[in-house]
Amino acid sequence: MNANINQLAKTFTKDMIGWRRHIHAHPELSGKEKETQKMIMGVLDALGIEHKDNVYGYAVIGTIHGGHEGPNIALRADMDALPIVETTGLPFVSQETGIMHACGHDSHVAILLGTASILQSIRDELHGTVTLVFQPAEEEALIAGAKGIMESGVLDTVDEIFGLHVWPQISVGKIGLKAGHFMAASDRFNVDIVGKATHGAEPHNGIDAIVAAANWITSVESIIARETNPMDQVVCTIGVFQAGERYNVGAGLAHLEGTCRTYDPNKRDYMEARLTKSLEALDSMFGTKSTIEYKRGHGATINSEASVAHAASVVADYLGEEAVQMMEHPSMAAEDFSAYLQHIPGTFIWLGTGFEGNPPLHNAGFTIDESILTSGATMMAGIVWERLCGASNMK
Ligand code: NI
Repeated sequence: MNANINQLAKTFTKDMIGWRRHIHAHPELSGKEKETQKMIMGVLDALGIEHKDNVYGYAVIGTIHGGHEGPNIALRADMDALPIVETTGLPFVSQETGIMHACGHDSHVAILLGTASILQSIRDELHGTVTLVFQPAEEEALIAGAKGIMESGVLDTVDEIFGLHVWPQISVGKIGLKAGHFMAASDRFNVDIVGKATHGAEPHNGIDAIVAAANWITSVESIIARETNPMDQVVCTIGVFQAGERYNVGAGLAHLEGTCRTYDPNKRDYMEARLTKSLEALDSMFGTKSTIEYKRGHGATINSEASVAHAASVVADYLGEEAVQMMEHPSMAAEDFSAYLQHIPGTFIWLGTGFEGNPPLHNAGFTIDESILTSGATMMAGIVWERLCGASNMK
């Protein structure tokens, strides 16, 4: 263990708080992270860290060259915010109306900049390379944030990758780890069920799209409840149901939107095919004409066993045994970190920021306990140090 890392993390805490608050006050939506990119490059310049900004969108890829040869370890932070009106009332509340860092990506960037500060100051001792991945567009599944960076080839020489996410479901000071299934694949669908509008008093002259859609919703529930093994991790939620214009008119159109979350690629295929088939059955039953647009989003995030074991031992050494929280269950939420893990071994990590009254991620009142900036940077720098310079990895 390198106790100097704990000390350096404390030294850079003030900087990290400043960066986090600045980014929090100036959030930018997915694909529009121009000022955030500029700010990150300014900090890397001041630290003397070489970086590229022509990789994908507003991504910044920094490189710390160790004093000795060795593996290449990548660390990733996402940069984007959400279209939410902030209600925290914090002194550094969002200055952009209707945009908020409600998913903690402000702290992810601050932690990675802090980690970069620590590792850059001990770079001569490092046996290998550190690749810093500041990634845009995580929140919008239809913009390929992680995938765009992967496809650029800039990470082709990376041996292992780590990323973290603030996680209010676990307490401040705890680090959530789990090998294998960690976060789900996330798909999105839009459905239109077209019937025939008619006078409410003459249902026989039309085809009621509301009644048909209501039947389809219950059949989707049955696909999950009656066709899916209860041990499989499958969720399907219809979050939008729009139909009808007037109380005494049978509706001619119903529009629905929803999401399917899975881990097993076969289950993913199954859900897509089954939703389509069940609409065909609905049409023959009701005489409606239905269409479905099914869009694949992020793949499942599957953590490598070796990377999780490594992170767990680093957390125990640098933050204390009690900080390690091995998670019993994965989450059905999704992360585009999965795009890296499909090609590079590594692990995604949850950084606990649960405290009494703290709302969940994507809530207008979400915030963090800023002490986690220090522990996050300590952990990430420790992960790199132990991989490149730890007893078992000394070159
Ligand atoms: Ni997030």
